[in-house]
Amino acid sequence: MIHSSAPGKLMLLGEHSVVYGNPCIATSINKRLDVYLNDKNEHGKELKCTTIDALGIKSKFPSNFEQHKFLNLTIAKFFEKYGHKNFKLTTKPMPKGLGSSSAVVVAGVKALSTLYNLNWSNDEIFKFSYDIVKEGQKGKASGYDIAVAVYGGTIRYENKKGNIHIKKLKNIRNLIAIDTGVKSSTTELVREISEKMEKYGQIFCGIFKIINKIVDEGEKEITDENYKGLGELMNINHGILNAMGLSTYEIENLINGIKPYSYGAKISGAGRGDYIIAICKEQSKNNLMNYLRDVKTEHFEILQDKGVDVEIY
Ligand code: PMV
Repeated sequence: MIHSSAPGKLMLLGEHSVVYGNPCIATSINKRLDVYLNDKNEHGKELKCTTIDALGIKSKFPSNFEQHKFLNLTIAKFFEKYGHKNFKLTTKPMPKGLGSSSAVVVAGVKALSTLYNLNWSNDEIFKFSYDIVKEGQKGKASGYDIAVAVYGGTIRYENKKGNIHIKKLKNIRNLIAIDTGVKSSTTELVREISEKMEKYGQIFCGIFKIINKIVDEGEKEITDENYKGLGELMNINHGILNAMGLSTYEIENLINGIKPYSYGAKISGAGRGDYIIAICKEQSKNNLMNYLRDVKTEHFEILQDKGVDVEIY
């Protein structure tokens, strides 16, 4: 049995701007997506076909279920390049809005490359996984989520027309993920911003220049472990995202509510929903947690997890 896993992610600074070749800073989280791969049945006999068992749906490969889209694509790429094999691929999912699509591809690629004895490096896993996601996703995608799932930890990520730079940064303490309770569509919001870009090209060039500066300064604050400074930059970045039309009344209320306990808080990712990321004041962590419990808002402390991993037993 092959068991692989990859972490989910949250964006700390630079969303949207990263889609246009600018840098961002993102972090892995302590919620992982697990993939189990078996090429024998419980009696040790060879399997007669390939099956997928994911998100509570069992199906023969190729699966007709939209939910299995990325798994279908991942398996199809291996069959096309390295030949057909029979196996059962099972996943244990993680909550939505935390990078499950990228994690399922990366963990799937790790498990399958192990089955095919390819001995791939993380760079090879990244390249193969990113090609799959680019093919499967309708709109533009920077690939930052794939990079976090592969390398783990906190990273600075830049994708200048396919020229990719990934730099590992220090782990950050006291980061809290807060669920807005609303699911947002990354594809639609990326499209919306690209339409605004067409209309207000110069304004958005200016905005992205400022976000570049925020990311550069953020990297310094992370290196110096200056979380007050990092929080200030997160607030500025959030203000810009709000000005771009990516916040909502409810998100602003949540952010205002946690202000007394945090150095900074912002949308994480495409916007208008999914998760907020906050950096809390060391001495206020318990108060923040209590506040979030009182207002019945799902949350968890982010512990940066390792990248993709595999074990065979
Ligand atoms: O919504 P998420 O967590 O998938 O993040 C989207 C981040 C964007 O910069 C808006 C898109 C991207 O591909 O980087």
